[in-house]
Amino acid sequence: MNLWQLLEQHAERHTGDVRLHLPAHRGGDGMPELVAVFGERYVRQDLTEVGELDDLAEPRGVLAASEREVAGVYGARHAFFLSQGSSQGVVASLYAATPPGGIVLLPQNCHRSALQGLLLTGARPVFYPVGGDRRFGVFTRPDLDHLEQLQRTTGAGVVLLVYPSYEGVAFPLRETVERLRQLGATTIVDAAHGSHFGHRGLPFHPAEAHADYTVLGLHKSGGALTPGALLLSEVEDPSRVREGLRLVGTSSPSYPVLASVALTVHVLRETGERRVEASREAAGLIRGPAVFAPTGAHDPTRRLIYVEDAPRFAEKLYRRFGILPEYVSTETILLLFGLGFPTERVRPWARAIQELPPARGDVPPPPLGEGVLTPRDAMLARRVRVPLERAVGEVAASLLAPSPPGIPLVWPGQRITEWTVATLTAAARGGQVILGLSSEGVEVVA
Ligand SMILES: Cc1ncc(COP(=O)(O)O)c(C=O)c1O
Repeated sequence: MNLWQLLEQHAERHTGDVRLHLPAHRGGDGMPELVAVFGERYVRQDLTEVGELDDLAEPRGVLAASEREVAGVYGARHAFFLSQGSSQGVVASLYAATPPGGIVLLPQNCHRSALQGLLLTGARPVFYPVGGDRRFGVFTRPDLDHLEQLQRTTGAGVVLLVYPSYEGVAFPLRETVERLRQLGATTIVDAAHGSHFGHRGLPFHPAEAHADYTVLGLHKSGGALTPGALLLSEVEDPSRVREGLRLVGTSSPSYPVLASVALTVHVLRETGERRVEASREAAGLIRGPAVFAPTGAHDPTRRLIYVEDAPRFAEKLYRRFGILPEYVSTETILLLFGLGFPTERVRPWARAIQELPPARGDVPPPPLGEGVLTPRDAMLARRVRVPLERAVGEVAASLLAPSPPGIPLVWPGQRITEWTVATLTAAARGGQVILGLSSEGVEVVA
């Protein structure tokens, strides 16, 4: 029986029984307010490891069987349900893959979740450049020859690849993984935004590259409940991965979230093609000179729009059409069409975008930061807070990341430059949340 069916059956079978186990809401009996807000069915199924339900920390029963089935769907050696998002998969992979104090190659557009992995292992990150589109001010794809060269010169044992970028730009993943494998490097693919790939008109599915570790952000891009995700692995012995997952995972995972991951894998396999096709068609109506259209493989269900006063335009789109974008910066708006988006819901406002003037941003690619200390040494060092404008030349003691999407501009241990101060100041003025920046400034190594 599938995990989601089993969960439902368990909840039904025990309705009316005397629940003397966690959680304290007892299926809603002890907290009718939850039922009123979230619905009876969900609250009854809000269970964690009890009775015949398995233990995610070391699955032996229904979770183990479900993970095996999911691994089979992707042709992977192992699959691990992630109760805490792609972040948990990135951290556990880094933990499992990195020898103490090893070197890890990270892309410039790496998500902040990698930091926890670096902290656990004490690894030294070396960042590799990722191309950029100046007009839209976004990352595109890494230069693979350069990456290969860097692996040779640093001897890095682990390489993390972000596939695709937040805005959906993909690159030849299989070839990259193969080349890196030939060089002896362990590969981690962070596919938080690519779990719906592999269907007609979409880039290659990340799982098909069979990297050593592949993180699929099923809640972000596949349709699962937040924050359900999946880690696939080709390693022989999965025990260290499981240990890593336990280190950063709750001991009370949400069963509805886990079941939604299993259900999403099933749905994507059975009817993903149709659902992705619908969103591709709907998003296809959003075109014109203001719409990001990178050459080569990219996600056609994401649309990035350039508009000079993006917050004002976004406000207009909301007032007139009820549109809620993924992300609004000072000059761009990112729209994610997800799965099964009806084309007729785009028609009323497609023209408003088609008629926008051409994108004319001019954002030079961000420079690579200079690493002075490992993130671990920097975060554990004595620190002081200084006003941002006085931080030039100092070594950051924590990360500084505009969020979303949580791509750090500065990692702990990197030197803060004039460029970082100017960029952070502009982003903060534009209303963006900057993790690590408060009204008193930033923390630097004393
Ligand atoms: C590339 C990338 N990796 C990992 C993550 C973390 O994902 P989650 O929020 O599921 O933990 C994100 C989140 O935005 C991301 O953009």
